[in-house]
Amino acid sequence: MSPMNKEHQRIRDLLKARNAILLAHNYQPPEIQDVADLCGDSLELSRKAAATDAEVIVFCGVHFMAETASILSPDRTVLLPRTDAGCLMADMITAEDLEEKIRSLGSIPVVTYVNSTADVKALSTICCTSANAVQVVESLDAEEILMTPDKNLAQYTARRTDKIIHFWEGFCPTHERLTVEDVRRAKAAHPEAVFMAHPECRPDVLALADEIFSTSGMLRFAKTSPDTEFIVGTEVGLLYPLQKENPAKRFYPASEKMVCKNMKKITLAHVIRSLEHMEGEVKVPEAVRVPALKAVQRMLDVSA
Ligand code: 13P
Ligand code: SF4
Repeated sequence: MSPMNKEHQRIRDLLKARNAILLAHNYQPPEIQDVADLCGDSLELSRKAAATDAEVIVFCGVHFMAETASILSPDRTVLLPRTDAGCLMADMITAEDLEEKIRSLGSIPVVTYVNSTADVKALSTICCTSANAVQVVESLDAEEILMTPDKNLAQYTARRTDKIIHFWEGFCPTHERLTVEDVRRAKAAHPEAVFMAHPECRPDVLALADEIFSTSGMLRFAKTSPDTEFIVGTEVGLLYPLQKENPAKRFYPASEKMVCKNMKKITLAHVIRSLEHMEGEVKVPEAVRVPALKAVQRMLDVSA
């Protein structure tokens, strides 16, 4: 047995012994995706966390994702094998900042991207993901809305609705790094390729996109599209499942710079350690969980 297969076998044994499920985000390293029970985008992973009957959820992703699992499944133990795996965009807004903004804007609904802390979700009317932001905004009975924390997702949504969207000045540094020049270079090198971009990219980059999707949206599109070449405008981790699921097609990163260091922190050894010692528990206190759940559940109901 190769060392990796040994580690995979150990993880599968521990998952069984702990009655645990392993969820992994689409950006996780290949060896983590290969051992997971389910890989997905933020929306799919939230749904799975809400529906599981496992006693333990091992979350391979970043902190806000594990928090969302804890919000939805308070009776389960949620483990994040590296509790220091954060999200730089989620850190761009605090509950205090948001309270002040709400005071200054008056009582308009707040749509908060799931890439945010539980404290910020708790102050929000409803959450959204990159897969359902337009649908969530359209579901609200209000003409003016504040979207936090991602200015790029907010502007992408604003272009698809008649509502007035106020936005927070947050962004994902990994996606913000992709420039128009990078995209032009990739298109020149692969003139037949379809350019797929994530809504966290800058507006000038999205203007060049043939298709705009969440990470799982890209996976679904690549599978069903008759096209055979794709330029991928999101974190480079997505290249692995794209290529694995479509061996006859070709995928090129829009830029090699699109790496989220936090998404690369968890190794197989960390997963083993976390399961062996039940280390890295993420638990949202009830006073925050209850209002945060309202916002997350409302999103799940809208996009059911
Ligand atoms: P998705 O929900 O599209 O998977 O995106 C999550 C994320 O963190 C993007 O940077
Ligand atoms: Fe956060 Fe960006 Fe990393 Fe996604 S890619 S987890 S938004 S820093």
